[in-house]
Amino acid sequence: MNDPRLESLLQACPGLRLKTDPADLEHYGRDWTRRWTPAPLGIALPATVEEVQAVLRWASAQKVAVVPSGGRTGLSGGAVAANGELVLSLERMNKALDFNAVDRTLTVQAGMPLEALHNAALEHGLIYPVDFAARGSCTIGGNIATNAGGIRVIRYGNTREWVAGLKVVTVDGEVLELNKGLIKNSSGYDFRQLIVGSEGTLGVIVEATVRLTDPPPASNVMLLALPSFEVLMQVFSAFRERLQLEAFEFFTDLAVRHTTSHGAHYPFEQTYPYYVVTEYASGDEAGEAAAMAAFEHCAEQGWVLDGVISASVEQAKQIWRLREGITEAVARHKPYKNDVSVRISAMPAFLAQTQSLIGDAYPHFEVVWFGHIGDGNLHINVLKPDDTSDADFVGQCEHVTKLLAQVLARYDGSISAEHGIGLVKKPYLSSTRSRAEIALMQGVKRAFDPSGLLNPGKVFDA
Ligand code: FAD
Ligand code: MLT
Ligand code: ZN
Repeated sequence: MNDPRLESLLQACPGLRLKTDPADLEHYGRDWTRRWTPAPLGIALPATVEEVQAVLRWASAQKVAVVPSGGRTGLSGGAVAANGELVLSLERMNKALDFNAVDRTLTVQAGMPLEALHNAALEHGLIYPVDFAARGSCTIGGNIATNAGGIRVIRYGNTREWVAGLKVVTVDGEVLELNKGLIKNSSGYDFRQLIVGSEGTLGVIVEATVRLTDPPPASNVMLLALPSFEVLMQVFSAFRERLQLEAFEFFTDLAVRHTTSHGAHYPFEQTYPYYVVTEYASGDEAGEAAAMAAFEHCAEQGWVLDGVISASVEQAKQIWRLREGITEAVARHKPYKNDVSVRISAMPAFLAQTQSLIGDAYPHFEVVWFGHIGDGNLHINVLKPDDTSDADFVGQCEHVTKLLAQVLARYDGSISAEHGIGLVKKPYLSSTRSRAEIALMQGVKRAFDPSGLLNPGKVFDA
């Protein structure tokens, strides 16, 4: 611990756990983007709200920048510390604090992993319904800070819908108790919702009170094979009209090639260009009959070429692995990720235009398409060829993202549907948020963090 600032931090916060080994600086200084070289000052691992307050008071007095850090599964560089910032990791603050059976809320510390939150809810016979593949490593604090989406948004909405209250420490060490679990609260600005999606730029979330709900009815999982992109939204409409959908996700043949080479099982005898995984409430004969009716309708129209329905929990898991395994399976190719959204009604036209743009723009790159198509959210992952340098690759992808951003603007879309802006999307924020909006965001940032110490350089430049 050579840096005298860290000695002074320990004086200000005696007993604080600090890590400064090079391996720790590397580990805690980056997220899943792997584009920036980690270079944090040190890693603070507070165990209590009081310690978080002391760290932030010290950072304010010393003018040291702080990067709030959850599971670092982020895909936009939001938790990257590449400029001598102090990483404030919530990983030791990971416990359930209180269950309220009448309110059906659970209060947890912000560093609790999403999967642990799922399990804690189940202990009370209820569910916390936000879910996605990073569940084992991402934290509820990071989920709230990014307004995470995932595979159940079509049924339950984004993280925002489930946050009933937040305890947040401001940069000068004040504790804000936001909304306090209320369902109705019209008493001025809702700072709780302002913190949701603020990517660690306004305050540090230390506790969250989340709403829980009843477990869903029994469900089944169907894998569909599609002939073309053009029929995707028609298949979606046919299924949505007939079924209570829990999920509706799409991916391409290239995605399947990557997930199967990572151990996923492929159930069809031949390959097809496009696939959908849909999960729907079933459990009775009427549910299954409706699912068959949707399938047969699509097959008659030529929109679906093949299909399989899960016959067991194990088979449902295998089908999901084809979709949920994509991020991990393509990670070694350093994918450049676009995470865009438009209204569902705009999706057919947007898809057609985007497909032609991406086809022309990347004739030599592998492009993996997938996403939460039932929410209007498309993931486009461009894979880096081994013989192209990182800088050339990112340069080309950034050029195409500018063009994509123009298409998005025409469709009133968003440059980030669910991963957040962080560092990766910062140059494109102005393509889908107006100048007036960004100026107001900068004003809000100054009100919360006048010296610009909380996650500086993320989302926008102050
Ligand atoms: P981090 O990466 O640590 O941080 C993310 C941002 O939140 C940073 O800006 C950080 O500063 C801030 N932050 C973290 N904790 C706090 C806190 N306590 N207080 C204030 N700010 C904080 N995302 C989706 O939305 N949908 C998906 O389907 C999805 N699938 C994924 C699948 C895989 C395999 C992976 C690797 C990632 C996926 N993600 C997905 C992205 C990622 O998991 C989410 O963005 C998640 O919400 C990040 O949580 P985290 O704890 O890892 O946050
Ligand atoms: C997903 O939907 O699988 C995630 O958002 C992760 C990703 O885009 O890689
Ligand atoms: Zn996603």
